[in-house]
Amino acid sequence: MSTHIGAEHGQIAPLVLMPGDPLRARWIAETHLEDARCYSEVRGMYGYTGTWRGHPVSVQGSGMGQPSLAIYAHELFASYDVQAIIRVGSCGALTERLALRDLVIASGACTDSSMNRITFEGLDYAPVADFGLLRDAAAAAPHAHVGLLMSSDSFYATRPELTARMAEHGALAVEMEASALYTLAARHGRRALAICTVSDHIVTGEETTAQEREQTFGEMVEVALTAGLG
Ligand code: ADE
Repeated sequence: MSTHIGAEHGQIAPLVLMPGDPLRARWIAETHLEDARCYSEVRGMYGYTGTWRGHPVSVQGSGMGQPSLAIYAHELFASYDVQAIIRVGSCGALTERLALRDLVIASGACTDSSMNRITFEGLDYAPVADFGLLRDAAAAAPHAHVGLLMSSDSFYATRPELTARMAEHGALAVEMEASALYTLAARHGRRALAICTVSDHIVTGEETTAQEREQTFGEMVEVALTAGLG
């Protein structure tokens, strides 16, 4: 067991899919995996291991925001020898080039978080995706947008003009976790990718329904599994 994950060594697969919502982790395990077993219920942050097309794979909730994701990603890399984590989440579109339900595959992630500023003592680190996972996800989803995510510490932005400035410099969408995931994968010498579907549009104010979110979430999970195991 690690501090926040109640699994024995060997119960977690080398590839982990990581949604923010633990109930999504359960849904992925029940609808996309075979022989899925729950390995952790600590704090309600469910983790499951099953198989996809005969390959072992785990699904672990991360919670919302970089500090929460960092706890689970760190423990998966450091205590369970996980080799790759693919975040499957939602994002808010920052440009009219994106529509609701579009897929964004993050080649890199900028951030307003102080986590890396503290780690690098003010130097700017550039968190990027694993190239092989990025290439394979882009091949599995030729309709997806590939580019920058903005990982914000605030869902309710107090300085929206700063997010807009990131958009002027290429950020496609805002979410809350990718930057920490990419940084931790680099620190541990492992692989990571973030794939997000557009759940809301910051420019137009549109939002998806719960039913639309479930459908597009399923498509994204198949892209992630194909990139990680296909
Ligand atoms: N995840 C989904 N939509 C988001 C938004 N508008 N801001 C931050 N994270 C999000």
